[in-house]
Formats: sequence, structure tokens, C-alpha cells
Amino acid sequence: MPKNDQLDPDKIKANLRTKRIGRKILVYSCTSSTNDIAAEYAKNKKNDGLAIFAEEQTAGRGRAGTKWHSERADSILCSIVLTDCKLNPELLSLTCAVAVADGLGKIGGTEAKIKWPNDIILNGKKVAGILLESTPRFRGGDNVIPAKAGIHNDRRTYIIGIGINCHQNKDSFPAELQPIATSIDIESHSIADRVSLAKRLLISIDHWLEVAEKNSKKVTDQWRKLSIQLNHRVALIFNGTRFAGNCIGIDPEKGLILQLDTGGVRMFDAAHTSILNSKVTTTLS
Ligand code: BTN
Repeated sequence: MPKNDQLDPDKIKANLRTKRIGRKILVYSCTSSTNDIAAEYAKNKKNDGLAIFAEEQTAGRGRAGTKWHSERADSILCSIVLTDCKLNPELLSLTCAVAVADGLGKIGGTEAKIKWPNDIILNGKKVAGILLESTPRFRGGDNVIPAKAGIHNDRRTYIIGIGINCHQNKDSFPAELQPIATSIDIESHSIADRVSLAKRLLISIDHWLEVAEKNSKKVTDQWRKLSIQLNHRVALIFNGTRFAGNCIGIDPEKGLILQLDTGGVRMFDAAHTSILNSKVTTTLS
């Protein structure tokens, strides 16, 4: 079936009643990585909220130095510029995951879920991933004492890079990814409209960023509803050491909370943690 969903800034912007995100939208036919373009625009504070899309990337990247490849016009490849963000990296990471999952909503009757830190899961397979980059880059052990949970005293510049698989079929993915990757078309048994998905994405990010700045508990509550790991056993590598335990919650500053098999409770921040125990392994770098 022909796909008539070429990304067009005017179509994405039509009736887009967002306060902050997508006030300006750029669509590139082909670029290295939308995160690279976004980083250039992020040098100018006025570009807060700018959304950059591309039909194709020649050097798309995922977390932990992985490549993020997508055939032309098969995905939503988007980067959002935040030049004036109050949130710490941990809360922003949670907020983005909640926003992308909530923006996708139900696909083919199944709710999009979150695999901490930044994978979006449909029917047990990864449909989207988020790559957060910041200037200065993420520091381990944030030394800023927050005024409210998850809120910085200073403002930071971030790039939120989002890749959503839309038109891929099973054979579009390399053999090693086929058991763990999916797309909106596969899960919905229909052809996605990337323009309306892009709108939903921007609206949801706009909404959840505002929520996070006002009340981080609403974000963590929503994360709890959408998490596939909460109350399940999780194994992970933190700074090179393996830990395992039951996931008992999330902290908006310190990350995933595990009741360790060895006893005691410990928190793990996304920047130093790789999840080990399920089909999709992730690292936030
Ligand atoms: C991951 O799951 O590893 C994160 C993938 C993020 C991919 C997106 S596509 C748009 C933006 N530009 C990039 O180069 N990467 C992100």
C-alpha cells in the first residue's frame, strides 16, 4: 500500500497547540543525525522547543555508541532542542520515556510501555528509543542540590533524540534484531500516518515537560503505570559491577530502585547502568 505520509513542517504544525515544543519545526530530507543538527541550533538559546525531523540519517546513533539505522521514510527520526530546562538528567529521561509511551498510546489495542531507561516497548518488543544528550554532557553524580525533587537550580541545554519504528516489516530489521524489534505498522496491522504520530509526539512531550517542572511525582506515577520492570526481577551492570533484585520503584533524581537479592535497597542512575535481564539490553551514555 502506498504511504502518503511524507513529513512536512506545515502539516505537522497545523493545529499544533503546544506551548513550547514544536513552535518551530524543521524537516530534513537527509542528514547525518538529527541530534547533530539540533546541537548546532542549541547554541542559540532562542531555539528552545525547536523540533527537527529527518526522512533519512546517514549516521544515526543510539545509546552506548550503537548505530541507529532506518530505511528512508520508514521512521520518525526527531530531535528536540531544550535550551532552558530545569530538569535533572534523570527526571528528564523519565519524562521523555513517559511522554513517548503516552504519545503512542494504544497501538493495535496494546499500550506502549517503558523499559527503563529509554526503550518503548509494544508486545514485548522495542518500537522506539530515546537518546538524550546534554551540554555539558551528563556528569556522573550530579553535584547540584535540587530545590525540588528532580529540579535543577541551574538551567541546562539538552537534545532529546527520538527514533520510532513506523513502516518496517519484520524483514526490515537485521536478523539479530528481529526477535526484539517491532514497528507501529507491524503492531497495528495497518499503515501508520507519520504526520499524525509526529504531532502526537510533540504534544505529549510538551505536556509532560510542563507536568515534570510542576510536579515530578505525576511523572513517576505515570512511569509506574507504564513500566514493564516494576515488581519484576531486574539484573543490571552498574559501573562495571553486576547487581540483581526486584524493581520496587523509581526516584526522580537517583533512578531505578532495586531491592537487592543480596539484601538492602539501592538506586541506579541511567547514565551508569546497563539493563541485562530481558530481551532488549540498553545503556544510556
Ligand atoms: C536507542 O534506543 O539507542 C536510542 C535511539 C535514538 C535514535 C534517534 S533517531 C533521531 C535521533 N538522531 C540520532 O542520531 N539518534 C536519535
